[in-house]
Amino acid sequence: MSSAKLLTVKTKKLKKNIIDKICHLKSQHYKYNPKQQKIWFKKNVKDSYVHNIIMSKQKVVGYNCLRDFYIKKKLFFYLFDTILIDNHFRKHGYSKLLMNKSNQIIKKKKVFGFLICNKNMQKFYKKFQWKVLKSKNSIKSKKKIYMTYLFKNKTIFEVKNIYSVIEKLGNDK
Ligand SMILES: CC(C)(COP(=O)(O)OP(=O)(O)OC[C@H]1O[C@@H](n2cnc3c(N)ncnc32)[C@H](O)[C@@H]1OP(=O)(O)O)[C@@H](O)C(=O)NCCC(=O)NCCS
Repeated sequence: MSSAKLLTVKTKKLKKNIIDKICHLKSQHYKYNPKQQKIWFKKNVKDSYVHNIIMSKQKVVGYNCLRDFYIKKKLFFYLFDTILIDNHFRKHGYSKLLMNKSNQIIKKKKVFGFLICNKNMQKFYKKFQWKVLKSKNSIKSKKKIYMTYLFKNKTIFEVKNIYSVIEKLGNDK
């Protein structure tokens, strides 16, 4: 892993300069600039969210966020949001570190993970034991799919409800 290290921090413990660096990294890939990313971050990122960050020297080169969702004050699932590796640091196995760490957190909390991605990313997530959720309802875009980790069908919460909750959380990027 060379000089890079993995940090896991909740929002409330995240230093401002690290937030700036995360926003900078996100603007490398998504269409919004760092300033817009910061506005989005302030508005949508709750204190309890978990941030997995790969630092190389002083630079944030990898990032992933887990957004917690509760029913009746009990943690119900983690929305796996954004996984991103700096263009210059790809193919070094850093995304593997982020995926394994996220899976470990989800497993430890005895909940399930949920994500929405483009179809072409399913091969990547399948490598880390995420499964495509077959669902007839709710996905509006044909290019998008749901994927889950440690999901049991017996959940009291229907998939379509999860999707409506996610929409309300504020869309990423
Ligand atoms: C997807 C991304 C995070 C992968 O990062 P990376 O540093 O290149 O990946 P790693 O080197 O850690 O690769 C880990 C494994 O995933 C595989 N992999 C990487 N990208 C993949 C892809 N797009 N599809 C399928 N497998 C992929 C690698 O081959 C490797 O497998 P191996 O262990 O069998 O060799 C990176 O390309 C990225 O940031 N992309 C832009 C953001 C993005 O699209 N994020 C997903 C949003 S849904």
